[in-house]
Amino acid sequence: MKRLKKIWDWIDDRSGFTEIFMPLIKHPVPPGSKWSYVFGSATLFCLVLQVITGVALSLLYQPSSSEAYKSLQFITNDAAFGNVLRGIHYFGASGMIIMVSIHMIRVYITAAYKYPREMTWISGVILFFMTIAMGFTGQLLRWDSNGVWSSVVAAEQLGRIPFIGKWAARLLLGGDTIGGHSLSRFYSYHVFIIPAIIFLFVGYHLMLVIRNGISEPAKVGRLVDPKTYRAWYKQMLVEKGIPFWPYAAWRDVIFGALTIISIILLAIFIGPPALTGPPNPASLNANPAPDWYMLSIFSLFALMPPKIESYMIIIGPALTILILLALPFVSNKGERHPLRRPWAVFGSVCVIVFVFSLFLLGERSPWSPAFEAKPLTAKNVHSADTTVIAGSVLFYKKGCLYCHRINDQGGFKGPELSDVSLRLSPADLTIRIVNGGSNMPAYGGILSKKELNTIIAFLNSRKSK
Ligand code: HEC
Repeated sequence: MKRLKKIWDWIDDRSGFTEIFMPLIKHPVPPGSKWSYVFGSATLFCLVLQVITGVALSLLYQPSSSEAYKSLQFITNDAAFGNVLRGIHYFGASGMIIMVSIHMIRVYITAAYKYPREMTWISGVILFFMTIAMGFTGQLLRWDSNGVWSSVVAAEQLGRIPFIGKWAARLLLGGDTIGGHSLSRFYSYHVFIIPAIIFLFVGYHLMLVIRNGISEPAKVGRLVDPKTYRAWYKQMLVEKGIPFWPYAAWRDVIFGALTIISIILLAIFIGPPALTGPPNPASLNANPAPDWYMLSIFSLFALMPPKIESYMIIIGPALTILILLALPFVSNKGERHPLRRPWAVFGSVCVIVFVFSLFLLGERSPWSPAFEAKPLTAKNVHSADTTVIAGSVLFYKKGCLYCHRINDQGGFKGPELSDVSLRLSPADLTIRIVNGGSNMPAYGGILSKKELNTIIAFLNSRKSK
């Protein structure tokens, strides 16, 4: 025992462990911290979990378009605890996004971003967007039809941004559209670049929390005055401060542990999202639902008229980021209590309701392909010509019906084709099908000449409803 203590004393003396960490652990914090303060630390707990499981996954994952899907299959089906590992990483991501969102809303509602914590808020906003970016890039790394198709929808918008679209797409996707080259890019973002930014800003965020102290619980009528705040805060800590550990931190530890345990239980009992087959433009036989945290953003853009969409894809996020960054400069003093800031509370509730309704809409998603479509019935083909009938079968088999409506069958993503030959000649039809279009895959390399002609024979027979 004595010897152990001696060893520890040596390490401690030479490394400065106690000297550095004791003041942090014991530093005084305002009394009366509540359960509402636990979401920041819970986000950090999730982050640690993500780093550990992410590193473990990267040991087996192969970021190349020919191997990625296979390596994920191996992780899921064969590797020891691989499925649970993927599950933890998936639910950990969900947990992190939920916690960071609640943390941000809590800070906004209690105006903890006011003087002198402006930079804490700004670094937090950056961390919030980096967390979303991690979710988005991670989804593509799954490299199954689901992950790829969801990213295609979002990423191809990028190319349509006025003026800088092409350039932005090449920078972000490594090409004009998503393909094998995008996978290595996204891997780099997800594993090196974004985590590096996150570590940097988490460090800075925590340093600021220590430097400026955590915000005292808001009190009606107690105003923040930049001229006197720091002196007042210091005096308050001297008089009433309590050591961070254990008097304030025990809630963080309990809540953080519960969060981690829930994530692990979800991973064991529900598991990661099933892989939906390798990405293949010829077979759309998957439901390309983006992971839930992307759904609201998807709905928003799906609902927007295409004309505004190309502008909104850049203006929307830019404006959101700008407003969030400007917040602590626009209002950095005065009342903090939510009861005295009813508009802030009302605004938050509106945003939450808005995001939630978009989410519910996204669940039903009338704008995405209808993969449950059944083969065309004879009534809707109304022809006895064998080529036309064969074409109608191909029209279903090749996935056209998922997006195009024929009478009362099919999806809504593309234009209705019930009487398309009134609009388009066989030559026009060929061009459209071979080249695809916005939100329609190019079928040139997918259909054989014969298949193409058979489908066109079918479409050319469509003259009336
Ligand atoms: C993922 C959804 C999707 C699939 C699958 C799909 N399309 Fe389309 N299609 C669209 C969209 C969206 C448009 C409109 C494109 C545009 O505006 O650039 C379109 C346009 C067309 C047009 C031009 C229609 C017009 O009125 O201008 C034709 C013809 C067509 N598709 C045929 C097909 C055929 C044949 C197949 C199957 C081999 C197919 N599509 C598969 C979404 C799809």
